Amino acid sequence: MRGEAERAPDSEQLAEIGLRLEVDGEIATITLDRPERRNAQTFATWSALAQIGTTLPEQVRVVVVRGEGPSFSAGIDVRLFTPGGIPGQGSFASAATHDGGTIERRIREFQQGFLWLRRPDIVSIAAVQGHAIGAGFQLALACDLRVVADDVKFCMKEPALGLVPDLTGTKPLVDLVGLSRAVEICLTARVVEAGEALRLGLAERVVPAGELEAATRELASSLLTADRDAATATKRLLQGAAGRTLEEQAAAEGAEQAARIRKLFGGPAVRGDR
Ligand code: CAA
Repeated sequence: MRGEAERAPDSEQLAEIGLRLEVDGEIATITLDRPERRNAQTFATWSALAQIGTTLPEQVRVVVVRGEGPSFSAGIDVRLFTPGGIPGQGSFASAATHDGGTIERRIREFQQGFLWLRRPDIVSIAAVQGHAIGAGFQLALACDLRVVADDVKFCMKEPALGLVPDLTGTKPLVDLVGLSRAVEICLTARVVEAGEALRLGLAERVVPAGELEAATRELASSLLTADRDAATATKRLLQGAAGRTLEEQAAAEGAEQAARIRKLFGGPAVRGDR
């Protein structure tokens, strides 16, 4: 998963794309850093996020995703909807000249920038203030946890623009709020504010805007108190729960625990130990 062969993007490359990556011990912070465009995301943003995922230093256990300025992210850079697009990145119009299979493959590549945030060996936290629209909402949904400022405004705008949410956001949205509410939120493209986000389970915590950074740091630190391997195994178990019966989940618990017990209390490593 953590591909040492691939080179990590350097800070200059990231800055050109409007991203920053800071690694402080076990915590990595990814900052969307184009506040003058409300941290709008481009094709290059998603490729760079994927590259950050595959080259994340081994010691990192918590990944914070945040946005500079008043908005977490205003979603896709709307210049991509114009015929000229963004220099060097093309546009939706240029993408549309390809066959469906090619477009789908490209989308699957972009989704890699989001999917790695759910890996069991890390916990990802989105620290969200202001607008989180479209791709911004989906980036927040890609994270395991969301700490939000009291001015947060989530909006899934894609259907209003004739598109679907395709940056991995639909499953976590349905898992969190249920099918009916997800349909309503997506098809009306309405804004979900902080109080409702907390009530629906879209946010773990709401804090005053000025306290977002400190609250996120505090959560990151408390996540690090768990034993690393136990945290990974527990996240893996919890992630699998929805797809298993009670009996299957109980069996999965037993398998994970057997591996933990053997590792913690002795016993030679055998095939099947994690
Ligand atoms: N793309 C490119 N530039 C953007 C942008 C975007 N998504 N959102 C804002 N900006 C730019 C504005 O053009 C403006 O630039 P100038 O100063 O050069 O005029 C600057 O950022 C500040 O924007 P506002 O003055 O509008 O700031 P605001 O705080 O008053 O409003 C906002 C913020 C509500 C997010 C508003 O900017 C807005 O509605 N933006 C567009 C949101 C949008 O429709 N995003 C696409 C969603 S769909 C998607 O993301 C997924 C997909 O795959 C299709």
